[in-house]
Amino acid sequence: MMNRRTFVASAVTGAAWASPSKMFRYSEVEARIARRDFSGITKDDLPTPSLCVDKAIFEKNLEAMFAHCKSAGIGLRAHCKIHKSPVIAKKQMAMGSLGICCATIAEAELMVKHGIKGVLYTCQPAGKNKIWRTVALAQREPTFMAVADDPLTVDLLEEACAAAGTKLTVLVDLYAGLTRAGHATGRPGVELAAKIDSQKNLKLGGIMGYSGGASHTRGWEARRLKSIKDVQPVVETALAVRKAGLPAPVITGGSTGTYNIDKEIGLTELQAGSFVFMDTLYAGVGGKGNDARYTDFDIALTVLTTVISRNHPNQATIDAGNKAMLRPTDQVKSHPGMIVENQGAEYGILRWTGGDELKLGQKVELYTSNLDMTTNCYDRYYVCEGGRLVDVWPVMDRAGAVQR
Ligand SMILES: Cc1ncc(COP(=O)(O)O)c(C=O)c1O
Repeated sequence: MMNRRTFVASAVTGAAWASPSKMFRYSEVEARIARRDFSGITKDDLPTPSLCVDKAIFEKNLEAMFAHCKSAGIGLRAHCKIHKSPVIAKKQMAMGSLGICCATIAEAELMVKHGIKGVLYTCQPAGKNKIWRTVALAQREPTFMAVADDPLTVDLLEEACAAAGTKLTVLVDLYAGLTRAGHATGRPGVELAAKIDSQKNLKLGGIMGYSGGASHTRGWEARRLKSIKDVQPVVETALAVRKAGLPAPVITGGSTGTYNIDKEIGLTELQAGSFVFMDTLYAGVGGKGNDARYTDFDIALTVLTTVISRNHPNQATIDAGNKAMLRPTDQVKSHPGMIVENQGAEYGILRWTGGDELKLGQKVELYTSNLDMTTNCYDRYYVCEGGRLVDVWPVMDRAGAVQR
């Protein structure tokens, strides 16, 4: 007859599960996490799918970026759209980040709530809801900054600031090759800067120009040329703004892909974000002196999954699908030959051609294709050293007991 011990040993086949005495009940894992006692918890104890951060690689990525900025003489206002974590933002601030860039008003509210100074909301606020929330942030935190790429936004922000009795610093967002946002460079850009400067309740903070097209251009030299083409008109406009006697201390833009290019173009600070974790698409863009792979920063983030069905040769079903943002461009850690396929909301399939075997219940880690989309799906980062859990960081202050 099957007793508990033989049941556990036969039902779960991962090596760390072999001894039932080492198994925590999940309630015990949650209780320990709640009191921040991570001792004895391993990846095998964690729910899946979930996000795991390799602490050593994460720290190395941060150090590499900050060391570069220091030696190159360019500032960094790290973008949080990738991590959405005040814990990580505070680490970046402690290492010298000038502030934190945010893509959504909710991210900006989160960062300000956690006491971050120098938050820059890099998307123009449009519509009543975002205008009022932007002004409320300025009221709460005088170092908070917004951007505008339209004179109408300037008028609405001025009106709202006057009504609220507060001042707001605004940067001009200029076109840098991406048609999604950005006012025209040259004379129109200077005029928009002058309009901001002339408002009673707005202060001109400088110029922004983000070239998303450059960041993922393959090959470092091609990326450099694309960045110069897109960003040089932004810098020239910023210099014209200064020449007109207007204050434009900040010239911001750039990304993980162009971090070692943008200083020569004339940006005063970078908005790089992805370098903290990296993803498979970024890893493929190639670095300076290595067109095949971008090795400047390593992949520190994985989605931890479990093999949940194994009924057919050379394939395994995992518990990560659409809801976990699984993509065919994801890669399997330690199994470079495996192909990742999506099978619907909660299922994914891993396929291989021979030799490599996965077992039912086994944990598998995926390198994700697009960081922002993936991290947005989860409530927590499980921070690990090797297989050991050493910390848990909430995403957007969500730290619910279970992953979605
Ligand atoms: C406006 C803006 N700035 C900076 C970044 C950060 O770029 P990366 O994650 O490539 O470093 C992004 C990313 O999409 C962005 O939208």
